[in-house]
Amino acid sequence: MPSTVEITFTRSAKPGDGLAVLLAAAGAEFAAAAEQADPGKVIDKAVKVSGFSGKALATLDLIAPAGSTFDRILAVGLGEASAANAQTWLKLGGTIQSQLRKTPKVTVYLDAPGFEIGGSEAAGVALGILLRAYRFDKYRTKKSDSENGDEVEKVKVTIMTAAATAAKKAFAEAEAVASGVTFARDLVNEPANMLGPIEFAARAKELEALGVTVEVLTEKEMKKLGMGALLGVAQGSPRSPRLVVMRWNGGKPKDKPIAFVGKGVVFDSGGISMKPAQGMEDMKGDMGGAAAVTGLMRVLAGRKAKVNAVGVIGLVENMVDGNAQRPGDIVTSMSGQTIEVLNTDAEGRLVLADALWYVNDRFQPKFMVNLATLTGAIMVALGNQHAGLFSNSDELAERLTAAGIATAEKLWRMPLGPEYDKLIDSKNADMKNIGGRQGGAITAAQFLQRFVKDTPWAHLDIAGTAMGSPSSEINQSWGSGFGVRLLDQLVRDHYEG
Ligand code: BES
Ligand code: MN
Ligand code: ZN
Repeated sequence: MPSTVEITFTRSAKPGDGLAVLLAAAGAEFAAAAEQADPGKVIDKAVKVSGFSGKALATLDLIAPAGSTFDRILAVGLGEASAANAQTWLKLGGTIQSQLRKTPKVTVYLDAPGFEIGGSEAAGVALGILLRAYRFDKYRTKKSDSENGDEVEKVKVTIMTAAATAAKKAFAEAEAVASGVTFARDLVNEPANMLGPIEFAARAKELEALGVTVEVLTEKEMKKLGMGALLGVAQGSPRSPRLVVMRWNGGKPKDKPIAFVGKGVVFDSGGISMKPAQGMEDMKGDMGGAAAVTGLMRVLAGRKAKVNAVGVIGLVENMVDGNAQRPGDIVTSMSGQTIEVLNTDAEGRLVLADALWYVNDRFQPKFMVNLATLTGAIMVALGNQHAGLFSNSDELAERLTAAGIATAEKLWRMPLGPEYDKLIDSKNADMKNIGGRQGGAITAAQFLQRFVKDTPWAHLDIAGTAMGSPSSEINQSWGSGFGVRLLDQLVRDHYEG
């Protein structure tokens, strides 16, 4: 069971029962408040005998002594105050959540010598708890004791902080962020038999309850628009494609929107250029870009962001069939440009070509950021610690990079240029959908750039980060929701008000 966590903030509380969490600065220094939870100073002794040093995220788990109202006392290290940043608080929350075990009631004494802990830090701890608590286990009818015996279904966390009032306010926003990230994770984790284009579009429709306008374009409507690139990918699947247009208008009515575009290939078999069996199951996550865009729209609406934002996702399934697109086929995109499809497994760019053109044409946005699990090549280049960033705008690239550092959803800028662009010229059409063996992530990005004109644009290749990346303090699930916090940060920092 994913445990449901209820979090409240208070300036002071009587010592309670359950688990008390005390925080230590480097050198295992505790705040005076610690004594409330630990009047017998059991921690002092335990620190001496255990070697607990207060280094970041170190834990010391103690049974509370007779005389304490608590059952357990958990000390968590914060390390040096000078090294603290937003990640410190998120990771602290994740670490606390990971140590709950069977204790359904938790009091966190959010205070440590030398640390400035205000509302946003407290809300960061809460967000870390919520993100770490996420599990995708809806299809497991039996859970073994070893996996589930350590957890309780409902946890009540009380965070004691001098900044309780500010924390409550910041937490309302953090909750919106958490629900956007977990929404995206759910979409990525969902198997393709349960989540086709129509089912995905229905999930996006749920955002209407939050005030998002959601339009769903059908195959017929896309045909009318001339989206031959997207439709060519979809034609091998019996499941009809969809293009979902989500709009959140929280800004001034006359402000041009900012736009986010996602690759939503609900399953990528490779098509006729079929992928090998090994690892093909991971291609249920080939809609990670679309999931991030949908999750982001949910965050923006959930926290009533003062911005006009458009989210567009191209939803298709890339399958093998008598009707499927063949290598060598030439399709005409909505832009009018023709594409020779030399490899049906380079399908994401075909979907995005029409989605990007459509967004630019219809909304003339301030900028477009697209997210896509686009190439295996980006994983060769960057592994799973950075997503690839390609952009025609230094300003946008710098803002994205900074948001990546702030949220630890890190980006690394990759090059674009005319020498790379010419690698996708074709003799038979305006372009081909693959370059050569080299620079595969770059030629994919060059392809996308042919559909954005002069609009400031960035492409995030999230193939290595959207799914299957190592678990962390704040994520234990296969689908990470990568991009949601990153882009929410970008919006907060530059495009609101
Ligand atoms: N969805 C894949 C890329 C991918 C691979 C994402 C592994 C996540 C994990 C994409 O559609 C694809 O197949 N790309 C090809 C392009 C090639 C045919 C030019 C690739 O990267 O091999
Ligand atoms: Mn593919
Ligand atoms: Zn793909």
